[in-house]
Amino acid sequence: MAMNVAIDGPAGAGKSTIAKAIAAKMGYVYVDTGAMYRAMALYFLREGIAPTDEAKISSVVDNILVSIKYEDGAQHVILNGEDVTGMIRTEEVGNMASSTSVYAPVRTKLVSLQQELAKTTDVIMDGRDIGTVVLPNADVKIFLTASVECRAKRRFDELVAKGETPDFDKIAKDIEERDYRDSHREISPLKQADDAILVDSSEMNIDQVVETIISYINK
Ligand code: DC
Repeated sequence: MAMNVAIDGPAGAGKSTIAKAIAAKMGYVYVDTGAMYRAMALYFLREGIAPTDEAKISSVVDNILVSIKYEDGAQHVILNGEDVTGMIRTEEVGNMASSTSVYAPVRTKLVSLQQELAKTTDVIMDGRDIGTVVLPNADVKIFLTASVECRAKRRFDELVAKGETPDFDKIAKDIEERDYRDSHREISPLKQADDAILVDSSEMNIDQVVETIISYINK
């Protein structure tokens, strides 16, 4: 049986950084499920489809093929044959992913891809519904969170490091809106699974979070 570790939590809690570091240390494959929702969102944006147009979104889902490949251990997302890994990390794509991930056809398609990946491979998978819906029998479930201020500050610092001049209040507001949408949607909302361990990273550095979670995995 493959070892499955689920990490869920709100946007900006550090899930991908932490999951990547744990994957490297433990020899697991890191599966970033948000990247799959982002790849679909990129398709909708390119097609000029409104995030509220459920009928149109549902009708084009069958035209979209999202797959994952690994190069030197890093996940690449393939959208209809095109490697879009470098194009999906924008606020625009993130917000579109949050808005369009509420629709059942979008979720059904990506959840089955995620479940296939976890069947045969030792994975650490991060997202919003991994412990609750995608891998309900995961060996270890972590719910990783941090305060809104702390997540906004991290995002702010990232953008400053990239040479941008971000607006802190706008970032915090975007995070709050995304939290609300992700946790109030009808299907598979973001929520802590009953058997998940809560880790609040507000007052911890990356190494401390990684060590904390590895100690739960080893237990
Ligand atoms: O983790 P992220 O910011 O890359 O995710 C982008 C959006 O995709 C997120 O706001 C909600 C959606 N998502 C989801 O609904 N379920 C997942 N398992 C992962 C992401």
